[in-house]
Amino acid sequence: MSEIPSSNQLIDRFGRKVTYLRVSVTDRCDFRCQYCMAEDMTFLPRAQILTLEEIHFICRAFVELGVVKIRITGGEPLVRNGVLGLLRQLGRIDGLNELVMTTNASKLGRMATDIRQAGVKRVNISLDSLSKEKFRKITRTGHLETVLQGIQAARQAGFERIKINAVILKNRNHDEVVDLVRFAVDNDIDISFIEEMPLGMIDSHDRGEMYYSSDSIKHDLSAHFTLLPLLDTTGGPSVYFRVQGCETRVGFISPHSANFCASCNRVRLTAEGRLLLCLGNEHSLDLKRVVRANPGDMAVLKHAIIEAMTIKPERHEFNINEQPVIMRHMNATGG
Ligand code: GTP
Ligand code: 5AD
Ligand code: SF4
Repeated sequence: MSEIPSSNQLIDRFGRKVTYLRVSVTDRCDFRCQYCMAEDMTFLPRAQILTLEEIHFICRAFVELGVVKIRITGGEPLVRNGVLGLLRQLGRIDGLNELVMTTNASKLGRMATDIRQAGVKRVNISLDSLSKEKFRKITRTGHLETVLQGIQAARQAGFERIKINAVILKNRNHDEVVDLVRFAVDNDIDISFIEEMPLGMIDSHDRGEMYYSSDSIKHDLSAHFTLLPLLDTTGGPSVYFRVQGCETRVGFISPHSANFCASCNRVRLTAEGRLLLCLGNEHSLDLKRVVRANPGDMAVLKHAIIEAMTIKPERHEFNINEQPVIMRHMNATGG
């Protein structure tokens, strides 16, 4: 390998600084959300996914290279055995300002307190419907009651913030956006609405036909709430508004209608150990190979990560009306 670059920061060809790492600790999930997975999925064999020690080592390298925020995702991160131990270790990394997690909440009822104590500051929880039947239909295997209990457990565990993520589809759950915001307001939590992205082949619906834009959602909400624009950002892609009269923030993640790639500050580590430079492109580096070929060698790993910045693409090329060009599903990617 060539000489170690002098810069100890992660800056890509477009001058964007990478400070946020999203880590998928497993591609498995106890749900089968229609927009995320096909009904019949094959998951990765154990030997192909990073060990918890490898994940910890890679995260340390990123923090030494200036990453200040790590989000643990999946699949469903809480189905991975030993994940609490990993969180505790990550929570102790010097220089990491924010350890956060995205979960479907099915296991939060039992685990919320331990997760908070491990050092996780905030959790984002996927919740697309407040109707028991619709929730079941969308997730195929999920129980709304368990998720609602998980949300209450998270509220009691004392996270700094809790955010709901709702993927909105026309004629599936678009009629629930007002109820979902009301739920967020009543529970003093935040909510982001997400435009569906064409990742992987799915068999449940035509993504183009069910596209529902952030502007349509804003329009629907405007009859019930006054949304005040906010300038602050979490470093994530959501553009936030505050609901007048309360603390709740409503975010819009609009990969189609308001591209946010110019301010991209993040990369992803897949469960398999691929460093993905963009959610909507295949540019990647096999970090599992790097760590397995050079066990314990932090310098080689950091060098490889710095070099990978040269292949970070400028933007995603999602087209909701065409067959997906990205064949990996969200569960393998980490949201
Ligand atoms: P906060 O830190 O709370 O702002 O979270 P976040 O919005 O960064 O993370 P979250 O897990 O809530 O992300 C929600 C969704 O936004 C993800 O599941 C993706 O669907 C989408 N998203 C996140 N990052 C990107 C990105 O870089 N590109 C695209 N196209 N979508 C993204
Ligand atoms: N498009 C947009 N969001 C998706 N998610 C999963 N699949 C997709 C998709 N195709 C969201 C989930 C969850 C997060 C991890 O990713 O709703 O909030
Ligand atoms: Fe599981 Fe999240 Fe995918 Fe739903 S969106 S199947 S909860 S990984």
